[in-house]
Amino acid sequence: ATSSGPYDTVVIGGGPGGYVAAIKSAQLGLKTACIENRGSLGGTCLNVGCIPSKAMLNNSHLYHQAQHDFKRRGIEVDGVKLNLDTMLDAKNTSVVGLTSGIEYLFKKNKVDYIKGTGSFVTNNKLHVSLLDGGETEIETKNTIIATGSEVTPFPGLEIDEKQIVSSTGALDLQQVPKKMVVIGGGIIGLEMGSVWSRLGAEVTVVEYLGAIGGAGMDEEVAKTFQRTLSKQGLKFKLNTKVLSGEKVDGQVQIKVEAAKGGKEETLDADVVLVAIGRRPYTKGLNLDKVGVEMDKRGRVIIDDQYHTSTPGILAIGDVTFGPMLAHKAEEEGIAAAEILKKGHGHVNYEAIPSVVYTHPEVAWVGKSEQELKAAGVQYNVGKFPFSANSRAKTNLDMEGFVKFLSEKETDKVLGVHIIGPNAGEMIASGVLAVEYGASSEDIARTSHAHPTLSEAFKEAAMATYDQAIHV
Ligand code: FAD
Ligand code: NAI
Repeated sequence: ATSSGPYDTVVIGGGPGGYVAAIKSAQLGLKTACIENRGSLGGTCLNVGCIPSKAMLNNSHLYHQAQHDFKRRGIEVDGVKLNLDTMLDAKNTSVVGLTSGIEYLFKKNKVDYIKGTGSFVTNNKLHVSLLDGGETEIETKNTIIATGSEVTPFPGLEIDEKQIVSSTGALDLQQVPKKMVVIGGGIIGLEMGSVWSRLGAEVTVVEYLGAIGGAGMDEEVAKTFQRTLSKQGLKFKLNTKVLSGEKVDGQVQIKVEAAKGGKEETLDADVVLVAIGRRPYTKGLNLDKVGVEMDKRGRVIIDDQYHTSTPGILAIGDVTFGPMLAHKAEEEGIAAAEILKKGHGHVNYEAIPSVVYTHPEVAWVGKSEQELKAAGVQYNVGKFPFSANSRAKTNLDMEGFVKFLSEKETDKVLGVHIIGPNAGEMIASGVLAVEYGASSEDIARTSHAHPTLSEAFKEAAMATYDQAIHV
């Protein structure tokens, strides 16, 4: 069987990068198809990433609040109980609602959705093994590789998604583990560690480096963050390396030692979460056959227009350079489609926000203080604590601060770092500031509604070039 073709654009992979590229390409009048082999659209993000993790984070937070926080607010509830099955169902409902929503958007925008696994025959011909059996070949002018990433395995710890899990298994545990060991104190470790800790697990995070949060997080924020999570009950073993793990009597024993060498220790766990990063996924695409080059870390090499080393083949999202974030992949999807149609498109990599969706949230954009120091840039710092913000006080939710970094000579905003309630929403203003090249004074002189958490944002900007009022 042959599908309708030939196409102007075929996208391989229906995640945030791929589905957005496909929709934009069709909107620009290009005949477009998207090949996806998962059986549903939305990729890692909607199926086993951003969306289900945020459902679990939100609902575990509410459960935790009902148990530990309602009383001081004058809300007395007896016998708060966890119904994990219902919580998992609620997560699944959100996922299905959103993934089917993308199928609707494909129909609306006339993107052909081809369910199967794509691979290259030539740079203008693709082979597809269809999910419901059979195969087909399609002709295309251009192809965008958007096949995303997969979990980086830990040598010697085989993931069974029940006892030794990746984030995928950690999103679907059928029971709250008594003891959980998380390998890797990056974003997945902290988000999923928070979820199961709130639901009752004793969680120990083992991190190789001396700080939590992974790359890019401001060191001062990371320290505050670790203190806050420790108060919530998470245990941390920093500067610690995992040596090995084995299943013994229904448990997993993890051997660790100090990163610089030293005493060995064994940690017992009912469930171990492996969260040491993700790596590009290109299996089965036949990239070598068509001459698409990859770097040592398996990332598809592209130029600044998303073109690979082979004419007519582009790559975007987790499979190529840059942070592995859904919104970064989406921006690239739009830019790549625009480049195919009009010859130009652009993403500002200086203005991509990062958010950790714990409570409090952590969010940032631009440079961290340690990065500015390392680059020898002269800068001003302005900080404002949520404990001095009227709305945070009213909400009894005042942990954290907003921190601005601006260029000393020009006051141009170089970085914004927030730990606090709603940081993930608030950082949007910081991203706008960086995108528009604003100064901290521009923000400080912009009216922010009272009483809102955003006033802490404004006052931190004030403190950067002048003095804050309320602290
Ligand atoms: P993917 O979303 O990985 O999509 C690629 C798709 O291609 C997959 O569906 C795959 O099945 C398909 N595919 C692969 N090969 C083929 C083939 N040969 N033929 C057909 N189909 C193929 N990012 C955020 O910004 N915010 C978050 O809160 C966030 N939370 C996360 C939580 C977790 C637990 C995880 C694991 C990730 C999270 N991420 C988050 C990261 C985010 O999911 C990724 O950055 C994003 O999904 C990358 O999009 P993509 O389109 O490049 O690839
Ligand atoms: P990560 O790169 O964020 O963190 C991995 C951590 O593991 C690092 O701190 C690293 O030092 C540590 N590590 C590496 N090897 C180790 C070892 N052998 N022993 C102990 N520690 C070790 O990767 P993570 O958390 O797996 O997430 C993958 C990606 O998914 C993230 O980089 C992010 O791009 C994306 N993501 C984004 C989210 C968000 O935006 N809120 C949420 C979840 C994932």
